[in-house]
Amino acid sequence: MSNYHIKNLEEYFQVYRKSIRDPESFWEEIAEENFLWRKRWDKVLEYDLSKPEFSWYKGAKLNITENCIDRHIYGRGDKTAIIFEPNDPSEKAEHISYNQLHERVCKFANVLLDHGVKKGDRVCIYLPMIPELPVSLLACARIGAIHSVVFAGFSSTALHTRINDSDCKIVITSDGSYRGGKTIDLKGIVDEALESCPGVKTVLVVKRINSEISMKPNRDKWLQPLLDEANNTCVPEIMDAEDPLFILYTSGSTGKPKGIVHTTAGYMVYTAYTFKNVFQYRENDVFWCTADIGWITGHSYIVYGALANGATTVLFEGIPSYPDFGRFWEVIQKHKVNQFYTAPTAIRALAKERLDFSGNYDLSSLKILGSVGEPINEEAWHWYNDNIGKKNCPIVDTWWQTETAGIMISPIPYSTPTIPTYATLPLPGVQPALMDENGDELKGNLVSGRLCLKFPWPGMARTIWGNHDRFRETYFSTFKDFYFTGDGALRDSTGYYRITGRVDDVIIVSGHNLGTAPIEDAINEHPAVSESAIVGFPHDVKGNALYGFIILKETGEGRVHDNLRKEINQIITEHIGPIAKLDKIQFVTGLPKTRSGKIMRRILRKIAENDTDNLGDISTLLNPECVQEIMDGAV
Ligand code: WTA
Repeated sequence: MSNYHIKNLEEYFQVYRKSIRDPESFWEEIAEENFLWRKRWDKVLEYDLSKPEFSWYKGAKLNITENCIDRHIYGRGDKTAIIFEPNDPSEKAEHISYNQLHERVCKFANVLLDHGVKKGDRVCIYLPMIPELPVSLLACARIGAIHSVVFAGFSSTALHTRINDSDCKIVITSDGSYRGGKTIDLKGIVDEALESCPGVKTVLVVKRINSEISMKPNRDKWLQPLLDEANNTCVPEIMDAEDPLFILYTSGSTGKPKGIVHTTAGYMVYTAYTFKNVFQYRENDVFWCTADIGWITGHSYIVYGALANGATTVLFEGIPSYPDFGRFWEVIQKHKVNQFYTAPTAIRALAKERLDFSGNYDLSSLKILGSVGEPINEEAWHWYNDNIGKKNCPIVDTWWQTETAGIMISPIPYSTPTIPTYATLPLPGVQPALMDENGDELKGNLVSGRLCLKFPWPGMARTIWGNHDRFRETYFSTFKDFYFTGDGALRDSTGYYRITGRVDDVIIVSGHNLGTAPIEDAINEHPAVSESAIVGFPHDVKGNALYGFIILKETGEGRVHDNLRKEINQIITEHIGPIAKLDKIQFVTGLPKTRSGKIMRRILRKIAENDTDNLGDISTLLNPECVQEIMDGAV
């Protein structure tokens, strides 16, 4: 019986039961099987839920880049670690071997050291999907610096908030990025952000689009000449198992983003284990995850989980629609991709296009298809299964979160029978629970409730950067002694899980988590606006789209004019990024509120979904009269 290449459902249940009966030996065995430890752990798991504090592989010493790179040099040195596929299909793809990756990471690490970056310092990375992005993550990890990658589609305001929250002293960016037929002025966005970041002393700039940019003397430096000069070996910093590896921001129910902290050993073991298990990776496979490294999916499965297994991982700079809607399929054919991992929103967008876009390419290399980020609807699942997998590739609908580090609930290919819209069964070591409204665990099958996790796992987030109280409050206070995910789920008669969506104020738009509060805060900055409320409504490509109900001020400024909707979306773009723009805006004179003044989003959601027959009891509202008015004006 192998913990990894589980062969059938019976074996899955055996491994699963073992992992629950004795989680410590289970995770110990996995840690022993595969990795390079500089010192063995003293204890596999220690935790205290009251704080809450979790320590995995306590006492162990390691460097994650030795596990992701050095370990593979002997035996796999010439094997391709990263295939870089550029935005423009006429630009040549680059194959970076493990030997070359080692050299590039060491050089980059030495440049960081030369600029005074030390163990524990925070480094902000704001880069497009080019090789320097994974290399910079690994360079930070090499020297024990904590990386904080900010998705390069975020605005300058979002960027400076994140830089300041974690006190980054250095920013790594590029002169710009390609996005299909367009270019984006990343350096300009960084310059604007840094006006509000006095702590940043150095900006390292990668040349990608060769645009004219301004370089601030003493602060901004082109990276390439520094790399050319740098030494190509760099002794890895030996880290404690629980030293922070990175911070990654995710949206929360309140305005400020949460800097989720992951630590070294547990993160490594968990992402490596789930990568191998869920994608059934075999030595010469080519794995492609289309996520951006600015999100957790990219961190865990393009970079750490893949490289820890000595895999070949594709890094794609482009978008699915450029130069046409066949691009994904062209890349699969070109690089003979075996495992393909993408988001339902991309599948839905491509499913709308003509079938010959996928039909023109040879997709026979594919073995496994993955989905992540939001519930996959039945239609999209079948399209993916029929046209891409040719009914021959298991689809792994993987449920997990930034906070969990890796996949938690997912079929295991060839073992778990799949059913569209079901993430199916927990991976070994994962103990889900569904809770009712009173906080009691719902036992047995055929139940639905709030999805929690009732036992620690190595990849779990350890804290929110600089705010441990918020960590406790957000994840460990709703249900005592359980980690609360923020999602709702049901368990069917066979024990399969189906994730039904967020139950908090986070809305998933095109696979991106967006908190309603920061968007409302941005809108309220507009001089004409007095108050606003955002809810989601179903959208056939994005999954959800945003609907804003906005009250204008009773002043001259507060009149509706032609440009007002545009200006509101503009202000959202400036504060957060274009991903948070509203699809629908309705100006209203009141918002439904409880007697304690809380906006009743449930009612707004129903109106946005055009499901007003079931509004429920509105008589307890402070201002029930506004509901009819909102319904009459719905767009
Ligand atoms: C949602 C992405 C349904 C869920 C890895 C979760 C999903 C949030 C699935 C985390 C899935 C992710 N089915 N919903 N297979 N995968 N989600 O932090 O609401 O960007 O809580 O991590 O995405 O999003 P995050």
